[in-house]
Amino acid sequence: MTRLSRRGLLSAAAAAAVSPARASSGPIIVFGGTGRLGAPIVKLLVAAGEDVTVFVRKDSTRERLTGLAVDYAIGDLTDDASVAAAFDRKSFHIAIDASAQRGESSRIERFYETTTRSIVTHAKRTGVRHLIHHGSIGAGANLREVPYLKDYKGTPGMIDKGNAERVIVDSGLPYTIIRNGWVPLDPQPPPTYHASLSPDVTTFSGVTRDDLAILTMDVIGNPARLNKIYHAVDATVKIQRGD
Ligand SMILES: NC(=O)c1ccc[n+]([C@@H]2O[C@H](COP(=O)([O-])OP(=O)(O)OC[C@H]3O[C@@H](n4cnc5c(N)ncnc54)[C@H](OP(=O)(O)O)[C@@H]3O)[C@@H](O)[C@H]2O)c1
Repeated sequence: MTRLSRRGLLSAAAAAAVSPARASSGPIIVFGGTGRLGAPIVKLLVAAGEDVTVFVRKDSTRERLTGLAVDYAIGDLTDDASVAAAFDRKSFHIAIDASAQRGESSRIERFYETTTRSIVTHAKRTGVRHLIHHGSIGAGANLREVPYLKDYKGTPGMIDKGNAERVIVDSGLPYTIIRNGWVPLDPQPPPTYHASLSPDVTTFSGVTRDDLAILTMDVIGNPARLNKIYHAVDATVKIQRGD
């Protein structure tokens, strides 16, 4: 298979406002890879020639990944043993979490904290070098740091997401947290190529999932992005209130 370098991929992505990504160093496992954010991440990873395993529920629809050369690990994020088994399949160097609690079948309280703890525990145990976590602006204590959200009442889900971030930060596992603010409803729009990662955790912005995928590629193997929390920002995305 022709290996399209990540740098080439990004320049092909035309004027992407991201810095050139570094070479990856080994197998990558993606959680939430069948989803609206996860699938474009998986597509970019495959296009870059990466060795990708997607963690899927047995009933997950894999439609968004049709035709992609990836391995699948079957499990459920709420089932710690299945997460452990997924990490034991290969010596993963990078884990990416783009999951979101959806559907009723495995709905639990404290979903994000619980599932993040599983990912972190087994990532550490198996020597993962970098966890990339997609979170939300306003998670936990960040809610009170963001002027745009001053009238927004915290929800259990956002508290849960804050707790999940704490699990990561306290774990000692090298991490990057990418928080997104407003993301478009379906149908998903194409990337703008104008998104960037801001270290300013008071910012709030819209961002497309395709641009979040490009930003994810910029983080992989990039030492400058280690142990940092970013807000994904894109001044060209118009936030549609009420969504
Ligand atoms: N700030 C905002 O406005 C906002 C809005 C929406 C999302 N987000 C964030 O954006 C990210 C992705 O969201 P999205 O809307 O793109 O997600 P999505 O399309 O709903 O996809 C969710 C993914 O998580 C997987 N998943 C859910 N529960 C699981 C479980 N128990 N075990 C294994 N996999 C499970 C789903 O698998 P299946 O295929 O099996 O369902 C799917 O791949 C998340 O970080 C989310 O919190 C932010």
